[in-house]
Amino acid sequence: MFKENKLIKLLGISYPIIQGGMAGVSEANLVSAVSNAGGLGVIGSGLFPGKWLKNEIEKTKSLTKNPFGVNLFMQNPHIEELAKVIIQEKVPIVFTGGGNPLPLFSHFKKSGIKIIPVVPSPRLAKKMEQAGADAVVAEGLESGGHIGKNTTLTLIPQTKKILEKIPLIAAGGIYDGKTAAAAFLLGADGIQMGTRFIATKECLVHENYKKRILGATADDVTVTLRFTGHPMRVIKNQLSEIWQKLEEKGAFPEEIRAEKIAGSRFLSGNTENTPLLAGLSAAGISEIKTCKEVIEEIIKEAKETIKELAEKI
Ligand SMILES: Cc1cc2nc3c(=O)[nH]c(=O)nc-3n(C[C@H](O)[C@H](O)[C@H](O)COP(=O)(O)O)c2cc1C
Repeated sequence: MFKENKLIKLLGISYPIIQGGMAGVSEANLVSAVSNAGGLGVIGSGLFPGKWLKNEIEKTKSLTKNPFGVNLFMQNPHIEELAKVIIQEKVPIVFTGGGNPLPLFSHFKKSGIKIIPVVPSPRLAKKMEQAGADAVVAEGLESGGHIGKNTTLTLIPQTKKILEKIPLIAAGGIYDGKTAAAAFLLGADGIQMGTRFIATKECLVHENYKKRILGATADDVTVTLRFTGHPMRVIKNQLSEIWQKLEEKGAFPEEIRAEKIAGSRFLSGNTENTPLLAGLSAAGISEIKTCKEVIEEIIKEAKETIKELAEKI
């Protein structure tokens, strides 16, 4: 099924599965485990400074010889410093999220680094292709973390239709072979998952966070911070209730931004005073697995699902 896959060829990986960059979550241990299993691990650089990223890249290189990427959060005030580190360290692939990546395109292109923006709409996907992006991630609102307005079900085929040649990666709500098969049927060349990779043995977040993902039902997952203009999908907890109340009171967005939502928060076992970023896929995840198991089972189940379907219809 994946023999002629153009994403695999572009990135030099074995399976068309990307671990989405996750600020404060995807560091060297998780990233290298995904890359060693034949997918593409991606460091989430969030709001961290250049020194942090350099250290994480070096650690990742010591743990895998396979390709890996870095995700840049465009609202990071150290963005130029981070871009320099990526170029110096010759990281082969950069993903961008949370803002306009176009000012960085020429720097990365000159250094032979592949650029893959994460976008929430077909229009922006097309714009990125025209600007020279090597692939795009189209992310539906089922996903964990900051979300857009389109569902994966409609975003993928509509984006596929208007892209001319670059590979399309689907993200948002994908967590097993069936959801992956659906993404491929809709036209994706690859899939990106975040929440599924948090619930893995190699992910270093606190066990309590993983337990909240395993125990979550669809009713436990909500969208908060809509009024700030940057809605975020999380598992409900005391903090999301506080934010909900602030919103009902008509608080200013600045009152929320004052909350500390960056950094190594996920290493603490307190799952009530930190935003528990997770997608709707959490409700379908019930077991902690290794990254290798996640990737291999998804590929196997996706192939079986598509074969069975062909016989049924
Ligand atoms: C904890 C967490 C942190 C995330 N941080 C980032 C980030 O820093 N940059 C980014 O582009 N996307 C980020 N995302 C989105 C993921 O990269 C991925 O696209 C998304 O999780 C896919 O949806 P899923 O959770 O349904 O698999 C984050 C998601 C989660 C769950």
